[in-house]
Amino acid sequence: MPMVSSRENAFLDLIVTRRSASMLGEPGPSDAELAQLLAAAVTVPDHGQLRPFRFAVVSGEGRSRFGAALAAAALERKPELNEHALENIRGKALRSPTLIVLIASPKTAKIELWEQNATAACTGYAIVLAAHALGIGAVWKSVPFTRGASLAELFSLGSTEELIGWIHLGTAIHTAPPREPFDVSSITTVIDGGRPRPFRA
Ligand SMILES: Cc1cc2nc3c(=O)[nH]c(=O)nc-3n(C[C@H](O)[C@H](O)[C@H](O)COP(=O)(O)O)c2cc1C
Repeated sequence: MPMVSSRENAFLDLIVTRRSASMLGEPGPSDAELAQLLAAAVTVPDHGQLRPFRFAVVSGEGRSRFGAALAAAALERKPELNEHALENIRGKALRSPTLIVLIASPKTAKIELWEQNATAACTGYAIVLAAHALGIGAVWKSVPFTRGASLAELFSLGSTEELIGWIHLGTAIHTAPPREPFDVSSITTVIDGGRPRPFRA
C-alpha cells in the first residue's frame, strides 16, 4: 500500500491540524451543521451495531439548566463544596453557545461493556473532528463524575447510562497553537519474528 503523507491527503491534514478551541463565542453551529456533526458521530466503529450512545444538544437557557444539574451532581458527590466551587461548576456549561452532551448508553448484549464504552467515546472524537472540518470551534470537556440525580433527571438517564462529557461548540476565539511533532516510536512497539523494538518508518 502506498505511503500517504498528510501533505498529500486532505483528510489526514484535517486530522493532524485539529486543535481544541480554548475560548468559544457566538455564533454556535446552525441546526444544519449540528445535523452534520451528529451524522458523523453515528459512523463510529460499533461492534454489533448497538449504537451504545445518545446525545443531547444544549443551548440557550438549556445551558443554565445543565450547569445547575452539574453543580447539584457535584454537591451530591461532595457535600462539602462551597458556593464558589459550585458557581465555577455551573459556569462550565456557559463556555460556548452550544454543547453536545455525550451519553454512553450501553445495551444488554454479549458485546463487552468496555467495547460499548469505547464506541461511545469515539463519537466525541468524530464530533470534534467533523467540527474542525466545518470550521466550527470545539473542545471536549468533562467533570470527574458521570451520574447524579439531577443529571439523571435532566437527561432521562437509564440505570446504566453515563455522561461522558460534552463537546463545546461555537466560533473559536482562541485555538491552541499547531501541535508539536510527536515521536510515535516512543509508544509503538513492533512485534514480528525478532525482538520487540520501537516502530520506525
Ligand atoms: C473524555 C475527555 C474529557 C476531557 N475533559 C476535559 C476537561 O474537562 N478539561 C480540559 O481542559 N480538557 C479536557 N479534555 C481534553 C480536551 O478536550 C483537549 O483534547 C485538550 O485540551 C488537548 O487539546 P487538543 O484536542 O487540541 O489536543 C478532555 C478530553 C477527553 C477525551
